[in-house]
Amino acid sequence: MSREVFCRAHPSLALIKYWGKSDSRRNLPATPSLAVTLAGAHTETRVRTAAADCVVLGGEEQPPERYAPFFEALRRRLRTTLRFHAESTNSFPTAAGLASSSSGFAALAAACARAVGSELAARELSALARVGSASAARSLFGGFTLLPARARAARQLLPARHWPELRVLVALASGQPKPISSRQAMEATRSSSPFYRAWLASSGSLLAEAIAGLRSRDLERLGEAARLSYARMHAALLACDPPLLYWLPVTVALVRECAQMRRRGLGAWETIDAGPQVKVLCLAAEAAQIAAGLQEAIDSAQAAGGAQPAGSRILECWPGPAPEVRVEGE
Ligand code: DP6
Repeated sequence: MSREVFCRAHPSLALIKYWGKSDSRRNLPATPSLAVTLAGAHTETRVRTAAADCVVLGGEEQPPERYAPFFEALRRRLRTTLRFHAESTNSFPTAAGLASSSSGFAALAAACARAVGSELAARELSALARVGSASAARSLFGGFTLLPARARAARQLLPARHWPELRVLVALASGQPKPISSRQAMEATRSSSPFYRAWLASSGSLLAEAIAGLRSRDLERLGEAARLSYARMHAALLACDPPLLYWLPVTVALVRECAQMRRRGLGAWETIDAGPQVKVLCLAAEAAQIAAGLQEAIDSAQAAGGAQPAGSRILECWPGPAPEVRVEGE
């Protein structure tokens, strides 16, 4: 079969975080997550069938063992023995805490299925992408998505048009890959953080609060729940043995800048994943002013560390679409 399939998928930014697994063999999440699929950032993947599975990301061949469970689940589901060659690029830094595995596995699942002529429903593709990375289950849908605890697939809660004025400003604190993967850090939290149980116990009420804020387009209500979610996740990480800290000085500067902006009456609510980057929820009308404040915080943190300002480091994103898939040649 000679056809090549192209897929563009968008990262899924969690406002209520998935952190911890209820079943690590099947990669089922222990906490529910609520996310927004982000336009303004994407992964593009080209897939063809091949003699052996191979994933090349940004020109670099990826470790096969990271992808093996996904490809095995894919072949079982599609009832095929075919293997796949995938070439992928991200429009943003990879493995730096920008949710690249969410758009990456979503694009891979959608493109591989199409490459063998399958028209699996989004929910089935979501379950396959989850085997690769649970956050990827959400990237199969546009708009606002929910991956319940212990669920095999995500679903769309509300379409992107529910809140087109919502913006997410991604402040790039560092383009370096994170020192420890989310998967390893999640396992460390489960096995060594005394706060892990408390984190699990608090996730349900945070989710309910965030959904209420999202449904009523109440940015403050959604933002406060999102803030508690990331803060508690990182508190559990800091309590690991040995402690895990993803933050850099510039991360702290950005968190402080958001608090200061809120005191001045601007609607800026930050969230942080497994990395030093800070993503800020706000509305389109205030986005330029908030982006300027974030850039200033980055510049002064860099100057304090003796570095030159590195140009614009703010990426503006908004609620985006489900993956787009097309067959490029028969
Ligand atoms: C902090 O989906 O990358 O971004 O399922 O082990 O591949 P695996 O983990 P992954 O973890 C994402 C964690 C997070 C929060 C989130 O996206 O919900």
